[in-house]
Amino acid sequence: MTHPRLGVNIDHVATLRNARGGHHPDPVVAAQAALAAGADGITLHLREDRRHIRDDDLARLAAAISAPINLEMAATEEMVQIACAARPHASCIVPERRAEITTEGGLDAAGQRETLRPLIARLRDAGIRVSLFIDPDEHQLRAAADLGAPVVELHTGAYAEGRAGEFERLARAAALTGPLGLECHAGHGLTYANVQPIAALPEVRELNIGHYLIGEAIFHGLPHAVRHMRHLIATAR
Ligand code: PXP
Repeated sequence: MTHPRLGVNIDHVATLRNARGGHHPDPVVAAQAALAAGADGITLHLREDRRHIRDDDLARLAAAISAPINLEMAATEEMVQIACAARPHASCIVPERRAEITTEGGLDAAGQRETLRPLIARLRDAGIRVSLFIDPDEHQLRAAADLGAPVVELHTGAYAEGRAGEFERLARAAALTGPLGLECHAGHGLTYANVQPIAALPEVRELNIGHYLIGEAIFHGLPHAVRHMRHLIATAR
């Protein structure tokens, strides 16, 4: 059985760079190192407040790599225009609140149908594979399918925090993606210790992992961290 692809999220390389305002460490160089170590794609989140990734990073990344780029973005007019101009392989629509530390909770696809429908259509018309970052909830999955998103990324944050029943919820949601015609991705808060049960879910085609890998890179280097995560994913099923 084929195992899920690994998308490495480089946001926190930019967080570290921005702490000093210069150019080092460069998230684009980190992306190249992650790909050389076996990552299947690169994920980055251009936030409205540009707190880590900046517009210039997206442009430089697109010029530097040929592997798939997954652009995480809020459902705003500005971001749709940026995505349609940059044409990444995929765009993952995430909820965004300025005060949050990271993406807390999934997108309310069911509650925002009228905003999301035209926006998803524009991204799709630009040839971008649209994914919706949602909680593992049947209502949200059905809304994603109704909105014409080909992909959902299931939010694994509550599972990563150890919330009771959350793995079962993810497994049930993943099992629903096939019948709904959705490709299933997952991510948020995944580590060496918790990735394997998620990677073993047969429907999961891609995992997007960032913060933990960049943290491990401090101790053992990014190539090692990516190789080890990939090994865990490849041996989970
Ligand atoms: N997937 C999505 C949609 C996200 O917003 C994030 C966080 O930016 C991730 C995956 C990666 O989460 P983490 O950095 O906790 O691995």
